[in-house]
Amino acid sequence: MKRFARIIGTGSYLPSKIVTNLDLEKTLDTTDEWITARTGIKERRIVTDESTCDLALEASKNALEMAEISPSKIDLIILATTTPDKIFPATATMLQDRLGASCPAFDLQAVCAGFVFALSTAQQYIENGSFKNILVVGSETMSKIVDWNDRSTAILFADGAGAVLISSDNATGIKHSKLYSDGSFLSSLHVNNNGINDLGTIEMLGNEVFKIAVNRLSDLAEETLKDCNMTSDEITWMVPHQANIRIIKAVAKRINLPMSKVIQTLDTHGNTSAASIPLALDVGVRDGRIKKGDMLLFEGIGGGFSWGSVLVEY
Ligand code: UT7
Repeated sequence: MKRFARIIGTGSYLPSKIVTNLDLEKTLDTTDEWITARTGIKERRIVTDESTCDLALEASKNALEMAEISPSKIDLIILATTTPDKIFPATATMLQDRLGASCPAFDLQAVCAGFVFALSTAQQYIENGSFKNILVVGSETMSKIVDWNDRSTAILFADGAGAVLISSDNATGIKHSKLYSDGSFLSSLHVNNNGINDLGTIEMLGNEVFKIAVNRLSDLAEETLKDCNMTSDEITWMVPHQANIRIIKAVAKRINLPMSKVIQTLDTHGNTSAASIPLALDVGVRDGRIKKGDMLLFEGIGGGFSWGSVLVEY
């Protein structure tokens, strides 16, 4: 009998410090009007002294509580992050220790596409019968690699974490996932560090990334529907990576999906990279919009470029 990877718990966590567009007006040559109109972001959360693992721990506890699964029952932890706390060990192993779990744990790096890459990886382990319960986390402290003098990126990126507990199920769960990478775009979006002793900061050709994101994600949404022999009418919610409201609107328009079927958290979360999809998912689940049986489309693109989609019957 086919095994499906089903989401049985979601959780998220945001640091308490809120940085509004008006706060950024004080230090950057920008305005609330420009940021709101060009990105959809009004405010974002930024860590003061919390680590990527600290955020991941709280989000994971929330997901485990909803799933009613104790840490001892987790078979694998996959943590998607662009901002690990150390070069080694993996932040996932620190999370494993702090949760009191005793399973294998590893980090996965696909920048803003990290969560869909991690979810697709978890799907393979469940479907081939290797593991029953997998904790998939996206956690980021992007503020640590932002150049706070660069108005084109400082207004976008933010901190936070989201987590899902995936469990083996005979009836329903992840229906499809599709991943892509194209490493020739390194200079469009990267961290300009010089060797491993230098952290560096994000450099982005925003407008180029914007156009590529719209094209790749629109094509991918169409391909995903075609692969599954579905139309967009059958999608209950699109839960996209939250990078720019204009990207989200363009992709939704291409597949004829009304914005009333899109979970949007950009206004209060900003772009939290690998954390943005599970954060938005948890918001939609906890406020009651996302219900059991709903068909969810996750999509994200990030530096590399890497991009991917996951279609889930929730
Ligand atoms: O999550 C990973 C993937 N990342 C993304 O998907 C991000 C994709 N890119 C974007 O979201 C958008 O390109 C940005 C929000 C970064 C920029 O918006 P844009 O509409 O593409 O603006 P632009 O880069 O074409 O710049 C237009 C103008 C420029 O001024 P000039 O040359 O026309 O005088 C910029 O210098 O806007 C200026 N500008 C700003 N003005 C006020 C750039 N940033 C700002 C700012 N405030 N913060």
